[in-house]
Amino acid sequence: MTAQIIDGKAFAASVREKVTGHVNRLKEENGITPGLAVVLVGEDPASQVYVRSKGKQTVEVGMNSFEHKLDVDTPETELLTLIDKLNNDRDVHGILVQLPLPDHMNADKVINAIAPEKDVDGFHISNVGLLGTGQKSMVPCTPLGSLMMLRDHLGSLSGKDAVVIGRSNIVGKPMAQLLLGESCTVTIAHSRTKDLPDVVRRADIVIAAVGRPEMVPGDWIKPGATVIDVGINRIERNGKNILVGDVDFASAKDVAGAITPVPGGVGPMTIACLLANTVTACCRANG
Ligand code: GUN
Repeated sequence: MTAQIIDGKAFAASVREKVTGHVNRLKEENGITPGLAVVLVGEDPASQVYVRSKGKQTVEVGMNSFEHKLDVDTPETELLTLIDKLNNDRDVHGILVQLPLPDHMNADKVINAIAPEKDVDGFHISNVGLLGTGQKSMVPCTPLGSLMMLRDHLGSLSGKDAVVIGRSNIVGKPMAQLLLGESCTVTIAHSRTKDLPDVVRRADIVIAAVGRPEMVPGDWIKPGATVIDVGINRIERNGKNILVGDVDFASAKDVAGAITPVPGGVGPMTIACLLANTVTACCRANG
């Protein structure tokens, strides 16, 4: 079997098109332009790339982008003061503080200082609790994008066996909550899981979110399963610097029913969902 390749790039383009339509209507009918504030502390090269890309795409869909770049040694109190200002700024509907933060800052404290209704990352403890109890919340972007692709490919997910490999607060845990909300039978696997290959072999849906290059080989995958590869790992191969996922794509594509590639799978969906969350936050703020 050769798996269907789930094209995240094309899917993300369709999400951005819908977001652009919403933004245009908000402008024309309500005189409101949704605005996203992105805060970057320090000069981590990967974070700089992400923040630039977020700002560019925010402008491309017609929204306002507010970028705040702070020195790596900025005191935490200064960041908290900025967040307070953004919380009270009516032109800002979404706030994202790029992670990781420098070691002298407490990331939980910083994230929980963001007004929950502007927390477009869905990381604030209120949003985590709302998602966990099935209430209306802001949903973290990578799990949301993954769920959209799963729903598009499979239709109903009800009753399916899903395994989420990885238990991070950003991807693994919220992904498991979303799948539970879709009535899947969910297993969260991690580095201490016994017999991981057998656990994965039982799953109709595999979400790989561990951050270990090509850790999941094709022979762990149940024939016909749907595989969502969240990993983005930079490795050297044949003298070249390349991106690979957490799944060994070459062997997995011969077994899976459908699979997301890396790059071009989950990655583009994450920013598209950030833009969608910003529009959602704007609509909620304006009734
Ligand atoms: N760093 C890596 N991924 C993310 C993300 O989704 N949101 C934020 N705020 N920081 C990140």
